[in-house]
Amino acid sequence: MESTLKEMRVGASVLDMDPKSTVGGGVEDVYGEDRATEDLLVTPWTISVASGYTLLRDPQHNKGLAFTEKERDAHYLRGLLPPAIISQQLQEKKLLKTIRQYQLPLQKYTAMMELEERNERLFYKLLIDNVEELLPVVYTPTVGEACQKYGSIFKRPQGLYISLKEKGKVLDVLKNWPRKSIQVIVVTDGERILGLGDLGCQGMGIPVGKLALYTALGGIRPSACLPVTIDVGTNNEELLNDEFYIGLKQRRATGQVYYELLHEFMTAVKQNYGEKVLIQFEDFANHNAFELLAKYGTTHLVFNDDIQGTASVVLAGLLSALKLLGGNIADHTFLFLGAGEAGTGIAELIALEMSRQSKVPLEETRKMIWLMDSKGLIVSSRKDSLQHFKKPWAHEHEPVKGLLDAVQAVKPTVLIGTSGVGRTFTKEVIEAMVFYNEKPIILALSNPTSHSECTAEEAYSWTKGKAIFASGSPFAPVEYEGQVFYPGQSNNTYIFPGLGLGLVMSGAIRVHDDMLLAAAEALSGQVTEEHFSKGLIYPPLCNIRKISAHIAALVATKAYELGLATRLPRPANLVKLAESCMYSPNYRNYR
Ligand code: NAI
Repeated sequence: MESTLKEMRVGASVLDMDPKSTVGGGVEDVYGEDRATEDLLVTPWTISVASGYTLLRDPQHNKGLAFTEKERDAHYLRGLLPPAIISQQLQEKKLLKTIRQYQLPLQKYTAMMELEERNERLFYKLLIDNVEELLPVVYTPTVGEACQKYGSIFKRPQGLYISLKEKGKVLDVLKNWPRKSIQVIVVTDGERILGLGDLGCQGMGIPVGKLALYTALGGIRPSACLPVTIDVGTNNEELLNDEFYIGLKQRRATGQVYYELLHEFMTAVKQNYGEKVLIQFEDFANHNAFELLAKYGTTHLVFNDDIQGTASVVLAGLLSALKLLGGNIADHTFLFLGAGEAGTGIAELIALEMSRQSKVPLEETRKMIWLMDSKGLIVSSRKDSLQHFKKPWAHEHEPVKGLLDAVQAVKPTVLIGTSGVGRTFTKEVIEAMVFYNEKPIILALSNPTSHSECTAEEAYSWTKGKAIFASGSPFAPVEYEGQVFYPGQSNNTYIFPGLGLGLVMSGAIRVHDDMLLAAAEALSGQVTEEHFSKGLIYPPLCNIRKISAHIAALVATKAYELGLATRLPRPANLVKLAESCMYSPNYRNYR
């Protein structure tokens, strides 16, 4: 992937440092008082100890009925709370019961968001302890509906809104954010929210949800997370005509105006928070996603989950599958249906891993990977009309239109669906896969479930139980001829929280593709014999904090090896460091 991006950067590499950049963060003097001359205006920031009513209204410190007698006396809380004292465990039990009583996912989502606004630690405790149940509530699929209805469920602003109105003042906007030591920013421009298209300013639900996962699954402190939505307008007619729409009511700005605002934002982030803040681009339309990653990859610590996170999680699944099958990744031939952010991102990381393992040049390993888009197989005769990120995949071959014909022509050992179009892996296609392979690997990655290229049941039954299968959306275990098969879920939440933690704890200043490979290897390393015996190629999500710690450690190791880490000297035990860095949601005792 770096290599594709490298071509777009005209030869620059992630390791080519910007000579003007400084490693030190700007957090010590973010408000500029120290540097301001006397004639300049400064913000009169004060820090005070919260007590009484203010303490109860402060989500970071509020403990609700868990305040002890001593704390109630010391912090002027007498009479502001009913007399019962309830432990955090009991509060958690009560909330879980309440949330389970709601019928609609959106009600559960709203209840969780209200809890986050009221009592941050309790929110995270609940989420961490019940991750498999609550992940779909705070993130996909529910967050998609929440974004669609964001205008009507919007009560209080979350995150930072940077619109075209703020052009020229972005640094000041960043300074309005109350927390100073930011480590991870998730930013969207709302143009391609999940599979739902342009939701404009309402895309804010995505950075908010993603960062909640950074904390819950990767242990990044909530106060170090900043959700940002860049509002350059929307082309969504429904929103433009909605009197309650919360964003800019204009069509999307593009070209120079768009890139100037983005550039101002990227510059201001570095100026305000320094070089070690991770900026994750999220749900940008693919023309901008590739462009932004290529443009800022050599000057900022940037990561795109849709491209790089997906690639790493899918590679991890493939590495696990190979442990089941035996052999080397370079022995395989891949066919992708779908050549967008996910497809080309995954393809590039696989090619890189093949090249690393077999010591064959990347240009050669790419030839083992074929991609199809809506116009058919990507072949050299189409090169001139292809988008730049598809060009490396235009191999010599006669044109092929349909997927079945492509399977018969290419004879892939691995079939991957990243088209966003459901039911495209037909019975004939899957039977062809099993005709050419004893154990075909079939990954139907498109989300949501209705867009999955095939179901788990279809994959197992049409291959007579021979397929190694994983999907983007979850499927229940399938019983086929007396045997139970457990489909894996290729979920990005396996990778990005651990990757982020590894970058933060090593003080990394750039993301390098070797870190994505390391993350994939670390994730695959967490799949045990027991999981393999069920056919699983991913470990269960309930162990996610342990998984994240291992990913973080391997990513940090790479950062040190590449000279991209700034937290020196290198700590001896990086897994231990990762575990000790993780935010704990347990209540603290107040003096
Ligand atoms: P995208 O819009 O960038 O790319 C879609 C690609 O599919 C394009 O190349 C398009 O030409 C092609 N396509 C569309 N219709 C087609 C058809 N009928 N036949 C062949 N190709 C067709 O979208 P992106 O971001 O790459 O996502 C694609 C899908 O992958 C989505 O459904 C998304 O939910 C899923 N995805 C899954 C992930 C996971 O499992 N961890 C992570 C990221 C995305």
